[in-house]
Amino acid sequence: MEKIRRTKIIDVLKRTDFGETVNVKGWVRSKRGSKGIFFIALNDGSTIKNVQIVGEDANFDEATIKLITTGACLSVNGTLVESPAAGQASEIQAKEIEVLGACDNTYPLQKKGASWEYLRTVAHLRPRTNTFGAVFRIRHNMAMAIHSYFHQKGFFYFHTPLITASDCEGAGQMFQVTTKNLYDLKKDENGQIIYDDDFFGKQTSLTVSGQLEGELAATALGSIYTFGPTFRAENSNTPRHLAEFWMVEPEVAFIDLPELMDLEEDFIKYCVKWALDNCMDDLEFLNKMVDKGLIERLKSVIDTEFVRLPYTKGIEILQEAIKNGKKFEFPCNWGDDLASEHERFLVEEYFKKPVIMTNYPKAIKAFYMKIDDEKPVCNGQVMEETVQGTDVLFPQIGEIIGGSVREESYDKLIGEIESRGIPMKDMWWYLDTRKFGTCPHGGFGLGFERLILFVTGMQNIRDVIPFPRTPGKADF
Ligand code: 4AD
Ligand code: MG
Repeated sequence: MEKIRRTKIIDVLKRTDFGETVNVKGWVRSKRGSKGIFFIALNDGSTIKNVQIVGEDANFDEATIKLITTGACLSVNGTLVESPAAGQASEIQAKEIEVLGACDNTYPLQKKGASWEYLRTVAHLRPRTNTFGAVFRIRHNMAMAIHSYFHQKGFFYFHTPLITASDCEGAGQMFQVTTKNLYDLKKDENGQIIYDDDFFGKQTSLTVSGQLEGELAATALGSIYTFGPTFRAENSNTPRHLAEFWMVEPEVAFIDLPELMDLEEDFIKYCVKWALDNCMDDLEFLNKMVDKGLIERLKSVIDTEFVRLPYTKGIEILQEAIKNGKKFEFPCNWGDDLASEHERFLVEEYFKKPVIMTNYPKAIKAFYMKIDDEKPVCNGQVMEETVQGTDVLFPQIGEIIGGSVREESYDKLIGEIESRGIPMKDMWWYLDTRKFGTCPHGGFGLGFERLILFVTGMQNIRDVIPFPRTPGKADF
């Protein structure tokens, strides 16, 4: 076969120099034929669009034609011609075809309309489907949007460790990291495992968040963000939870609560706009095949001002709704952590917009959140202390961002650490920020996959990460 420099399909489809000889390489999406002519839809992943290859049976040997089946990998030399068919400007009249990789007839993606559940069992191949190709190209684009946004705002990308000896959220839902022989553990007289002979000489785990190290960086570089995998061993088998997920965590010195909310809102809108500006082919496909309201919803988010709602006001609204006959499965008294049914009611029924909820009861939030000066009044009664936490709640997704202004007072922070029984010896380095020139600061964590859920209209978080890790599942 003549050696011609390959053109990606995304580029070949833009070319109008008809009559030129081109080479494309890719995988067969479908092949059909009639009256001695065959048509191949070829895709190389560069775009959701296929290029059509047209050939005459007579010009190719039978053995080659037999190998051109769905899933096979081809290299095609041919003439770029204007296409008579609707929906495509050009096609390629094949002159030479080399089958780079034949496809076994057990190929699991031959049938159209396979269920999401089934496709998860072939996650090693599902990126070759239209939907997953679209999702993963959008996922890439969202990562680029994130870096672009923060870089342009003067934030520095700061790398925080994945292996940690501290438990940031104090939730005890971490995966341990060890090289110890689990069949022969060294224990003290109380039966407690001794870690001094372990790889790091102490108990270590995979991080649940880069925030604490991010705070160190913010008090040095001013504005930083982390963007990496985080791990949670919570047994949450829901369409919104993964055991391994990616989180974006900006942390900013000298920011207050209103400014933090501005940043959250501006950042999400920038990412959504990026998708609309850069991923339209994929969004149109998803809008047609997965979620008919997708593009409209994305556009409306950009134009909508997010609601800013103190927790206490949210409780009042929910209690009022209950009085008027609304039924919830879980109670919602002041002090309760809102269940997703409550969040959905506020976002999808009451306001019909994204909601940034703030000033939560101290007891249901992490130790590092800044304590509000005043106690809130709920239905005329003074309640317990609140903190400057912010959760961004999105339609269909629920919580997409969790963040807060941080407690910068050394004494108050120590008070929280002690009253919650958080081991002090693990926290000394974190406390140093409050000792050596402490400053007001804050930040948030955006669940990357939850953003991808929103931007793609997919329904299950397992379908927006290439290889999902959930309780009982770590295949591929
Ligand atoms: O609300 P979270 O737990 O906040 C933190 O980890 C803070 N340290 C962030 C910060 O202030 N720097 O998690 C942040 C976000 C959530 O809003 C959610 O979008 C996502 O991370 N998230 C998950 N996504 C997928 N699977 C899980 N198990 C998740 N847990 C949290
Ligand atoms: Mg949270």
